[in-house]
Amino acid sequence: MNITCSMAVSSKSGNTKLVADALRRELSGAGVRFAASFDLVDDADADPAHSEGVKGAENVEGAEGDEAVENGQSANAAASAPAESTSSISTIATQASEADVTFVGFWCDKGLCSPAVQHFLQGLAGKRVFLFGTCGFGESDEYFAQILDRVRAYLPVDAQYIGGAMCQGKMGMGVKRRYEGMLEKDPENAQARMLIDNWNKAQSHPNEDDVSRIAAAAKEALEGIAE
Ligand SMILES: Cc1cc2nc3c(=O)[nH]c(=O)nc-3n(C[C@H](O)[C@H](O)[C@H](O)COP(=O)(O)O)c2cc1C
Repeated sequence: MNITCSMAVSSKSGNTKLVADALRRELSGAGVRFAASFDLVDDADADPAHSEGVKGAENVEGAEGDEAVENGQSANAAASAPAESTSSISTIATQASEADVTFVGFWCDKGLCSPAVQHFLQGLAGKRVFLFGTCGFGESDEYFAQILDRVRAYLPVDAQYIGGAMCQGKMGMGVKRRYEGMLEKDPENAQARMLIDNWNKAQSHPNEDDVSRIAAAAKEALEGIAE
């Protein structure tokens, strides 16, 4: 495939970055050239009040189950340069413009993507875009599709969305502790049990199957434009 791409990724705790790296490797093996790759950083990551936002994540409209999935993994190297999240977005968008396709990777933040990703997507006028993301809940293509629909809505009308794919990603210990707290208070709480089960399942994601599925969707999308 003689296609040049760029990739912009927002990853709070590494899941989406892992998918991005694997995707780049897989597609490079298929002859796709990545001219540029960028990290998208959120100001909120440097905001001590961020945990409030996590609480506010509960009962997100259109979301399934409890999505207030706080991520206890705080390691985020990119947070050391939070100012870049908005100031350099237009520069990044300009560089992305040299590519045939822009890949945008995001982690699901309260049913959506984070503000840095929203902002970046808004700058992709006239571009072809493939979205990929990770989220705490999995096993439902419909759930993934809903998130992708909400996220792609940030693209300008004249951007061309060529496809997207998502997978589950592990969540932090803080989330599990909160679910366990719910269960301690009410041992009959079926919702809390479901959330703990999901948290446990999420621990093994993203896995190889997830990456293969996302890479296959990306290849199909790229073949579509190469025709
Ligand atoms: C503040 C916050 C909000 C989240 N909101 C959702 C959500 O609404 N739905 C969901 O499925 N997962 C949600 N998650 C889980 C993350 O999307 C998931 O763990 C993802 O894989 C993290 O990717 P990363 O490691 O690249 O940051 C949320 C996580 C955090 C920290």
